[in-house]
Amino acid sequence: MALLLVLFLANILTTSKGSISQPDHVHHQIHLLRPQSGAGGNLVPGLSCLSWRLGVETNNIIGWKTVPQVCEGYVGHYMLGHQYLKDSRAVVNEALLYAQSLELDRDGIDVWIFDIDETTLSNLPYYAKHGFGVEPFNATLFNKWVMEGAAPALPESLRLYRKLLSLGIKAVFITGRSEDQRSVTAANLKKVGYHTWEKLVLKEPSYSGKPSVIYKSNERKKVEKNGYRIVGNIGDQWSDLLGTNTGNRTFKLPDPMYYIS
Ligand SMILES: *[C@@H]1O[C@H](CO)[C@@H](O)[C@H](O)[C@H]1NC(C)=O
Ligand SMILES: *[C@@H]1O[C@H](CO)[C@@H](O)[C@H](O)[C@H]1NC(C)=O
Ligand SMILES: [Mg+2]
Repeated sequence: MALLLVLFLANILTTSKGSISQPDHVHHQIHLLRPQSGAGGNLVPGLSCLSWRLGVETNNIIGWKTVPQVCEGYVGHYMLGHQYLKDSRAVVNEALLYAQSLELDRDGIDVWIFDIDETTLSNLPYYAKHGFGVEPFNATLFNKWVMEGAAPALPESLRLYRKLLSLGIKAVFITGRSEDQRSVTAANLKKVGYHTWEKLVLKEPSYSGKPSVIYKSNERKKVEKNGYRIVGNIGDQWSDLLGTNTGNRTFKLPDPMYYIS
């Protein structure tokens, strides 16, 4: 596992496009290590890690604080291997089919809501370094990583973003990152290929302690009050996609690493 992470990180750091990709030798090793069925830890006895992940992605398992200890290796392999990218691709393929099916007026008011962390930008280098089952989550270390502005793009989300722009749909980013992370976040987005947006909404202090689903619903409501049509919405958390003013269609990207209500 340690070797895998080193190889993965070495690859991420040397990739020139700033997006996630893995060399073949990493794929090969990941292939040899199969997901384990979980037992013990804080996983319900008899539940496999694959079933746990499915439960998480379908919003049946909610409110969890960490990846079950026995699934930490499973989640690490999932995130660093083929499957995470393949699953993301399947989501983006559907989003694109939908977007291309729309009869757009091209009147400049169609927007698509993008979350940032684990949607447009990936914190995988951080989790690969610090582990996939961290408890308690270390906000100091995570914020330090965010302030480096070095997060790579999720390649599939960047593909969606580019295609939407070409269709005349504008991007609106709504993130749980705080307002004081605006400049580093904007610079990070631009560096990895998200060059333009209609709006970049960061969390104001007035929302602190409130659930993300409330914050994001309120901010989407403002977007609509300002005259925009939210044609689509993509995020890695259900709290990005539930609530009010969700947009005509929502798309859930995989994220078995953490849960935000
Ligand atoms: C977070 O990490 C820093 C640096 O390693 C450490 O000093 C601090 O105690 C950690 N905080 C928690 C809550 O674990
Ligand atoms: C989007 O939703 C609104 C409100 O429900 C509806 O009026 C509109 O026709 C929908 N647009 C598309 C493209 O489905
Ligand atoms: Mg997110």
